[in-house]
Amino acid sequence: MAEKVTVIDHPLIQHKLTLMRQSDTSTAGFRSLMSEIALLLGYEVTRDLPLEKRTISTPITEMEAPHLVGKKLVVVPILRAGIGLVDSLLQLIPSARVGHIGLYRDPETLEPVEYYLKLPEKMDDRDVLVVDPMLATGNSAAEAVARIKDFNPRSIKFLCLLAAPEGVEHFQNRHPDVPLYTAAIDDKLNEKGYIVPGLGDAGDRLYGTK
Ligand code: URA
Repeated sequence: MAEKVTVIDHPLIQHKLTLMRQSDTSTAGFRSLMSEIALLLGYEVTRDLPLEKRTISTPITEMEAPHLVGKKLVVVPILRAGIGLVDSLLQLIPSARVGHIGLYRDPETLEPVEYYLKLPEKMDDRDVLVVDPMLATGNSAAEAVARIKDFNPRSIKFLCLLAAPEGVEHFQNRHPDVPLYTAAIDDKLNEKGYIVPGLGDAGDRLYGTK
């Protein structure tokens, strides 16, 4: 597996992912499990955020204590299922900014086409976390990252819950410089582009639209 792919297989994440996969899990249950997993994944993905020491006063004494440095991190969910990961990441990093990107698949060419993009100003010098629960073909993720790269952020990472091997390969080929984090890599894609065994349509299960 490529060096830039990290499977975060903590037992709590694996257990919660199993609950999410089950077809009898309710919409409310699915949504709350996604938030819980996002919190655990977010903890790992932010492990290398830079710190600097600043002097603070505790009730006992002064000390040099670590603070996060740099411009505010930007979380960019890919619409619409990516939104299910955002609240937990904001709980971890309340000062983070949130951009949004929406892509649809052109029915003729099957290529992803951007229909919405809103990012914070002054993206250069910012660290970006692009999030989508499912990395299936990898087309939308790779396109979203390509568009965000146009704004020259300092760094980009991609975070998902579940990936297909085909999606990982495609993403890595297009963006070998972008670290990819996932809770699991499943067996394959089916002929409709769903991850197998997967968890179904993450957007529909998150929002109860089916
Ligand atoms: N998107 C989903 O929501 N589920 C899949 O299995 C593949 C893409």
